[in-house]
Amino acid sequence: MCGIIAYIGNQEVVPLLIGGLKKLEYRGYDSAGVCLVIDHGLKTVKEKGKVVKLEKSLVKQKLSSTIGIAHTRWATHGEPNQINSHPHLDCSSKIAIAHNGIVENYHALKELLESEGHKIVSDTDSEIIAHLVEKFYQGDLEQAVTKALELIVGSYGLVVMHQDEEKIIAARKSSPLIIGVGDGEMFIASDVPAILKHTKQVIYLQDEEIAIINKDEYSIKNLNGQPVNKKIEEIKWSVDQIEKGGYKHFMLKEIFEQPTSIANVISGRVKDNQIKITVNFDIKKVKRIIITACGTSWHSALIGKYLIEQLTEIPVEVDYASEFRYRQPVVNKEDLLIVISQSGETADTLAALREAKLKGAKTLGIVNVVGSTITREVDSGIYLHAGPEIGVASTKAFSSQVVALLILALYIRQEKKQKLDERLLKDLDNLPQTIKETLGLDADIKKMAKEFKGVTNFLYLGRGINFPVALEGALKLKEISYIHAEGYPAAEIKHGPIALIDQEMPVVFIATKNNLSEKIISNMQEVKARDGKIIAVVNEVTEEIKKLADYTIEVPEVSNKLSPIINVIPLQLLAYHIANDKGIDVDKPKNLAKSVTVE
Ligand code: F6R
Repeated sequence: MCGIIAYIGNQEVVPLLIGGLKKLEYRGYDSAGVCLVIDHGLKTVKEKGKVVKLEKSLVKQKLSSTIGIAHTRWATHGEPNQINSHPHLDCSSKIAIAHNGIVENYHALKELLESEGHKIVSDTDSEIIAHLVEKFYQGDLEQAVTKALELIVGSYGLVVMHQDEEKIIAARKSSPLIIGVGDGEMFIASDVPAILKHTKQVIYLQDEEIAIINKDEYSIKNLNGQPVNKKIEEIKWSVDQIEKGGYKHFMLKEIFEQPTSIANVISGRVKDNQIKITVNFDIKKVKRIIITACGTSWHSALIGKYLIEQLTEIPVEVDYASEFRYRQPVVNKEDLLIVISQSGETADTLAALREAKLKGAKTLGIVNVVGSTITREVDSGIYLHAGPEIGVASTKAFSSQVVALLILALYIRQEKKQKLDERLLKDLDNLPQTIKETLGLDADIKKMAKEFKGVTNFLYLGRGINFPVALEGALKLKEISYIHAEGYPAAEIKHGPIALIDQEMPVVFIATKNNLSEKIISNMQEVKARDGKIIAVVNEVTEEIKKLADYTIEVPEVSNKLSPIINVIPLQLLAYHIANDKGIDVDKPKNLAKSVTVE
C-alpha cells in the first residue's frame, strides 16, 4: 500500500526521505517519488520501480534542500508509471501533494476542475487534490487545504507543501498518518518504521484532523478549524526490531521470532492456571460472537471459531470483513464482534467494525500495531505484542492471533466459572519451547523444498481445527512463490478436487494426532491411489504413514487446540524456501501490499 514520508528541519532532506521510503517498501509499491523545496521553487523527481532507482536519479542531480515530501505508490487509478507517481503538482507547479487513499468523487471533481481550466496530466485520482488546493489558494495553504478537503469524498493520508510557505500540511481520513516530533525538525509518515531512526516521539493523527507543521512547532485542528489537543506518545519498538538481524528476509526472521512473539502474547495473561485480561464489558452476557477479518487474519478467525465454541459453547460465526460490511448483517446488542488485524488499519476490517458498532454490538480487537485505528475504535482489545511484522506474508502475527483467541476463549470459560484444562495450560506455557523445537526442522524442510520449485500446483488438506491451517499453508505458498495452491477440508476432496490429483500434484496433509486421525489416513489413501505426491505433517512416522507418504515432517505433539500453531510452522518454512529457491523477493511479492488500507 502507498507510503508517505515528509520532513521539515535543518538536515539534508534527500537521504532522509530515501531512507524513510526504504523503510516503507514492505507495504508494497510500484513507483516512488520526491518533491523538494529549493530556492522557492519545487523540484520533483519520480521513477517507476524500486526506491533504489529513484535514489540513483537523485544522487546524480545533487539536489540540496531541507523540506520535502516523498511517496511510494501502489497503483489503484492509472498504471504504474512516472506521470502517475506521486508527488503531484498543480498547474502553477507551486503546490505539491502526496496522497494515500482514494478520492471516490474523483470523476465529478475532475470535470469541475477541467471546466475551470485546470490541466490534469495523470490518470490518478490523487492529482485532483493538488488542483483543488490551487483553486482555493489565496496566500494561505492551511485554508486552501481545508477547503479542498471539504469537497473530497473518500479517504486520505495527505501531505501538501507550497513553494512559498515554510511548512507542510498533513491531513488524515481513514488512512494512517503520524507526526514525528524532533528537536528543530518534524517528520510525517504513514508508518513508524519510516521515522524511527530519527525520533520515537510521535503523534497519531485521527480522522478529519489537519496538522500544520513547521520545523519548530506543530498545531492540529479539526476540519472546522478548532484546535485539537494531542498527546505525544513514545514508540517502544527499537530500530533493531525492524531490521533483518542476519536473516536473508524479514519473513524468515519473523518465522524464527515465533518463540518470542508467542511468549509475549502469553506473558502476564496466563499465570497460576488463571487468565488475566481486561474486557470492558460483561462478556458472560454475550449470546453470539462474530469474528471478522481478512486474509491470514481470517484464517486465525476460523481457528478461533473452533476454540471459542469448544471452550465456551457460545456460537461463533466467521465472516470475511469485505463481505460482512456489505451484506446487511443481522447484528444486535447481545452480539460480540471480534475484529482481527495485524496492522489494525485494514480498510474492510475497519468498515466491518464500524458497521457492527452502529448496530449496537460490543466490539473487541485482536491487533498487533499499537495505536492503530482499529485499536482506537473497539470497546476492548488484546494486543499481540508480536513486534513489527515487516514481511508482506504474515507469519508471527498469525500464530499470536491464534494464541490470543485461545486466551480469550479460556477467559470466557473462566468467567463462566467452568474449569480450565490443566494439560492445555501446561502445553500453552511450554509453547515457546515447543515452537523452538519445531523450528529445528528448518534444514530438512529447506532440502525438501528444492524438489518442489518446479511444480505449478499444490493442494493442502486438513480437518477440524487444522482445516484453516491448510488454508493458511496454501495462502503462504501462493502469495510468495506464485505457485497455485488450494486448501480444503480433507474429506471434501471427493466432491471435486480429487479430479486434479496425479503424479504432478503434491498434496500436503496436516495429519497430527487427534480424533480425526484415522479418517485423514483414509483421505491419504485416496490421494495415494491416484499417484499424488504426499507430504505428511505428523507427530509420529508410523508404518502406515511410511507406506503412504513420500515426505514426512515430524512435529512435536501438543494439545489439539494448540496444534495449528505448531503445524503452521513447517508450512511457513516450506513456502519460504520454495519461493526463495525460485529467486523471488519473498518480503515484497508482486502485486501485494502489507497493509491494505483501501477496499
Ligand atoms: C497474508 C497476509 C494478508 C493479511 C490481510 C489482513 O500473508 O498478510 O492476507 O493477513 O491483508 O491484514 P491485517 O491482519 O493487517 O488486517
